[in-house]
Amino acid sequence: MFPRTESAILIEAARQYGTPLYFYHAERIQYQYESLKQAFSSWDVRFFYAAKALTNLHILQYIHSLGCSVDCSSINEIKIARKAGIPSDRILYTSNSINFSEIEEAVLQGAFVNVDSLSALEKFGKRFGNSYPVGIRLRPNIMAGGNLKISTGHAASKFGIPVEQLEQVHALVSSYNIQVRTLHIHTGSEIKDAAIFVQGVHLLLNLVADFPDVRVIDLGGGFKVPYQPGEKGTDIHAVGKEVATLFSSFEQKTGRKLQVWFEPGKYMVCEAGYLLTTVNVIKENEALTFAGVDTGLNQLIRPMFYEAYHHIENLTNPAASVKTYQIVGNICETDTLGADRELPTIREGDLLSIQNAGAYGFEMASQYNARFRPAEVFYKEGALQLIRRRETLDDLLLTQEGL
Ligand code: LLP
Repeated sequence: MFPRTESAILIEAARQYGTPLYFYHAERIQYQYESLKQAFSSWDVRFFYAAKALTNLHILQYIHSLGCSVDCSSINEIKIARKAGIPSDRILYTSNSINFSEIEEAVLQGAFVNVDSLSALEKFGKRFGNSYPVGIRLRPNIMAGGNLKISTGHAASKFGIPVEQLEQVHALVSSYNIQVRTLHIHTGSEIKDAAIFVQGVHLLLNLVADFPDVRVIDLGGGFKVPYQPGEKGTDIHAVGKEVATLFSSFEQKTGRKLQVWFEPGKYMVCEAGYLLTTVNVIKENEALTFAGVDTGLNQLIRPMFYEAYHHIENLTNPAASVKTYQIVGNICETDTLGADRELPTIREGDLLSIQNAGAYGFEMASQYNARFRPAEVFYKEGALQLIRRRETLDDLLLTQEGL
């Protein structure tokens, strides 16, 4: 197990760069990537880090340096990945509800492309025919994931082409002679149960016979990491083992060798990240004690948006007696970051760390209440590096015109 980042380092980062501050620990990202490689070492497998979890150039560059490819969900993520020095044959593009011009641009960039609707598949066929391989994202009708908002494979989901529409897929493929290289599913985020991945592989392997050009099965992302103390994440070794059996029997039966792709986001960066925040105000009422901090739902939306649990620690008064707190943000709305938390006595000025903030933390931050987005710092080989400065008032006003 990779230990949690030492408090002394987090305190030093906050001292140097102020709060609120996003902190990322490089070696933790590396550890996560190595664990994935190990769990799936018996497969022909490729990992595409889902950049949407955290797109900072330094993080992308670092992940690329580990040998990992990237999955992008917008043309801008592709451009950012290219700027980070990632070559196009290491970039996958999986988007939805986008204008076809973005897909054309992704093809021009030379990325691997997954399409997500019959409409996009038809346009792809008309425009590229057999000249450029494509992946098809299917909606497998599998309910999975930590929360309805992050479940994407079920029957009411907007994502992918429903498996019931496969006949129409085949009609388009044959009328435009489309080269379908990949079948893709992504059933959700925070999928704990290894059986869900097995179910997905079953489904795709059964379909492959009708797609002679398919070389790749893309299983998307969704590995769960523990958020609460004592909680378990996805047993990636169990997934690796169970699915390897399915693949080898498929290979024996059909003589076809398939490559497997994954698009892990949270698994790669979630636990490497901490949101560091200073306590501004302690407020007691008849029933509750609030610790009001210098961050809020504008900088970490997950607790309010997904009812996500993020573990919180008091870094600067760790040995004090424990009390129950409501950790609340500074936004003019209810923005509880942690309810009923038992923490060592919190004083105004104490530094708290909010854990598991590496994935979809900074990335989903906004300037709501006209507050600046936080700085980001990268801790690598024992050194701290500022990788994004804190915003200023000029940044808030940058795009406004006419005054
Ligand atoms: N591939 C595709 C096509 C995806 O849509 C996603 C995530 C991933 C891979 C990566 O999934 P992951 O390994 O990170 O679970 N903002 C939410 C999560 C939204 C996930 C969106 N798609 C959260 O903070 O929980």
